[in-house]
Amino acid sequence: MIGRLNHVAIAVKDLAAATALYRDTLGAHVSQQLPQPDHGVTVVFVELPNSKIELLEPLGADSPIAKFLERNPDGGVHHICYEVEDILAARDRLKAQGARVLGSGEPRIGAHGKPVLFLHPKDFNGTLVELEQA
Ligand code: CO
Repeated sequence: MIGRLNHVAIAVKDLAAATALYRDTLGAHVSQQLPQPDHGVTVVFVELPNSKIELLEPLGADSPIAKFLERNPDGGVHHICYEVEDILAARDRLKAQGARVLGSGEPRIGAHGKPVLFLHPKDFNGTLVELEQA
Protein backbone atom coordinates (compact mmCIF):
# COMPACT_ATOMS: atom_id res chain seq x y z
CA MET A 1 0.00 0.00 0.00
CA ILE A 2 2.68 2.56 0.87
CA GLY A 3 4.69 3.97 -1.99
CA ARG A 4 7.67 6.25 -2.23
CA LEU A 5 9.39 7.83 0.74
CA ASN A 6 8.25 11.44 0.33
CA HIS A 7 10.37 13.01 3.06
CA VAL A 8 12.05 12.68 6.41
CA ALA A 9 11.25 15.56 8.78
CA ILE A 10 13.79 16.84 11.30
CA ALA A 11 12.74 19.18 14.10
CA VAL A 12 15.20 21.99 14.79
CA LYS A 13 15.34 24.88 17.23
CA ASP A 14 17.02 27.30 14.81
CA LEU A 15 15.87 27.01 11.21
CA ALA A 16 18.37 29.56 9.89
CA ALA A 17 21.26 27.63 11.43
CA ALA A 18 19.90 24.30 10.15
CA THR A 19 19.44 25.81 6.67
CA ALA A 20 23.05 26.99 6.68
CA LEU A 21 24.20 23.54 7.79
CA TYR A 22 22.42 21.78 4.92
CA ARG A 23 23.23 24.46 2.32
CA ASP A 24 26.81 25.32 3.22
CA THR A 25 28.21 22.27 5.02
CA LEU A 26 26.30 19.52 3.21
CA GLY A 27 26.00 21.37 -0.10
CA ALA A 28 22.28 20.80 -0.61
CA HIS A 29 19.68 22.99 -2.26
CA VAL A 30 17.40 24.40 0.47
CA SER A 31 14.12 26.21 -0.22
CA GLN A 32 12.92 29.49 1.23
CA GLN A 33 11.21 29.34 4.62
CA LEU A 34 7.53 28.49 4.41
CA PRO A 35 5.44 29.37 7.49
CA GLN A 36 2.62 26.88 8.11
CA PRO A 37 0.51 28.50 10.84
CA ASP A 38 -2.17 25.77 10.61
CA HIS A 39 0.47 23.18 11.53
CA GLY A 40 2.43 25.29 14.02
CA VAL A 41 5.70 25.03 12.13
CA THR A 42 7.92 26.89 9.72
CA VAL A 43 9.39 24.56 7.08
CA VAL A 44 12.23 24.49 4.60
CA PHE A 45 12.64 21.71 2.07
CA VAL A 46 16.03 20.20 1.35
CA GLU A 47 15.90 18.78 -2.16
CA LEU A 48 17.76 15.51 -2.61
CA PRO A 49 18.03 13.56 -5.86
CA ASN A 50 15.73 10.81 -4.57
CA SER A 51 13.71 12.40 -1.76
CA LYS A 52 13.40 15.41 0.49
CA ILE A 53 14.30 16.42 4.01
CA GLU A 54 11.98 18.83 5.79
CA LEU A 55 13.47 20.96 8.51
CA LEU A 56 10.78 22.06 10.98
CA GLU A 57 10.99 24.93 13.44
CA PRO A 58 8.22 25.66 15.96
CA LEU A 59 5.82 28.46 14.98
CA GLY A 60 3.43 29.98 17.52
CA ALA A 61 2.67 29.31 21.16
CA ASP A 62 1.41 25.72 21.00
CA SER A 63 3.48 24.20 18.23
CA PRO A 64 3.11 20.41 18.01
CA ILE A 65 6.90 20.09 17.87
CA ALA A 66 7.64 22.20 20.96
CA LYS A 67 7.48 19.23 23.37
CA PHE A 68 9.59 17.13 21.05
CA LEU A 69 12.32 19.79 21.12
CA GLU A 70 12.11 19.96 24.92
CA ARG A 71 12.90 16.24 24.99
CA ASN A 72 15.42 16.53 22.14
CA PRO A 73 17.18 19.85 22.60
CA ASP A 74 19.65 19.16 19.78
CA GLY A 75 16.77 18.45 17.39
CA GLY A 76 16.02 15.05 15.91
CA VAL A 77 14.09 12.99 13.39
CA HIS A 78 10.44 13.88 13.98
CA HIS A 79 8.55 11.86 11.37
CA ILE A 80 8.81 10.07 8.06
CA CYS A 81 6.33 10.47 5.24
CA TYR A 82 5.20 7.76 2.85
CA GLU A 83 3.11 8.38 -0.23
CA VAL A 84 -0.18 6.54 -0.72
CA GLU A 85 -2.34 6.57 -3.83
CA ASP A 86 -5.64 6.93 -1.99
CA ILE A 87 -5.39 8.46 1.46
CA LEU A 88 -8.96 7.66 2.52
CA ALA A 89 -8.63 4.03 1.48
CA ALA A 90 -5.29 3.86 3.30
CA ARG A 91 -6.83 5.36 6.44
CA ASP A 92 -9.76 2.97 6.43
CA ARG A 93 -7.50 -0.03 5.91
CA LEU A 94 -5.19 1.02 8.74
CA LYS A 95 -8.06 1.72 11.14
CA ALA A 96 -9.58 -1.66 10.35
CA GLN A 97 -6.25 -3.19 11.38
CA GLY A 98 -6.20 -1.31 14.67
CA ALA A 99 -3.78 1.51 13.86
CA ARG A 100 -4.54 4.86 15.43
CA VAL A 101 -4.91 7.91 13.22
CA LEU A 102 -4.06 11.15 15.04
CA GLY A 103 -6.40 14.13 15.32
CA SER A 104 -9.88 14.04 13.85
CA GLY A 105 -8.96 11.24 11.46
CA GLU A 106 -9.77 13.46 8.50
CA PRO A 107 -6.91 14.37 6.14
CA ARG A 108 -5.54 17.92 6.34
CA ILE A 109 -3.64 19.82 3.71
CA GLY A 110 0.07 19.42 4.39
CA ALA A 111 3.18 21.38 3.49
CA HIS A 112 3.06 20.21 -0.14
CA GLY A 113 -0.56 21.22 -0.67
CA LYS A 114 -1.75 17.60 -0.59
CA PRO A 115 -3.90 15.74 1.96
CA VAL A 116 -1.97 14.18 4.84
CA LEU A 117 -2.66 12.06 7.93
CA PHE A 118 -0.47 11.12 10.88
CA LEU A 119 -0.35 7.69 12.52
CA HIS A 120 0.35 7.04 16.18
CA PRO A 121 4.05 6.34 16.80
CA LYS A 122 3.24 3.60 19.33
CA ASP A 123 1.66 1.62 16.50
CA PHE A 124 4.69 2.02 14.18
CA ASN A 125 7.85 1.11 16.05
CA GLY A 126 8.13 4.40 17.88
CA THR A 127 8.09 6.44 14.68
CA LEU A 128 5.54 9.09 13.84
CA VAL A 129 4.35 8.26 10.31
CA GLU A 130 2.81 10.75 7.92
CA LEU A 131 0.85 9.56 4.91
CA GLU A 132 0.55 11.88 1.94
CA GLN A 133 -1.73 11.48 -1.03
CA ALA A 134 0.59 10.93 -4.01
CO1 CO B 1 5.97 15.91 6.95
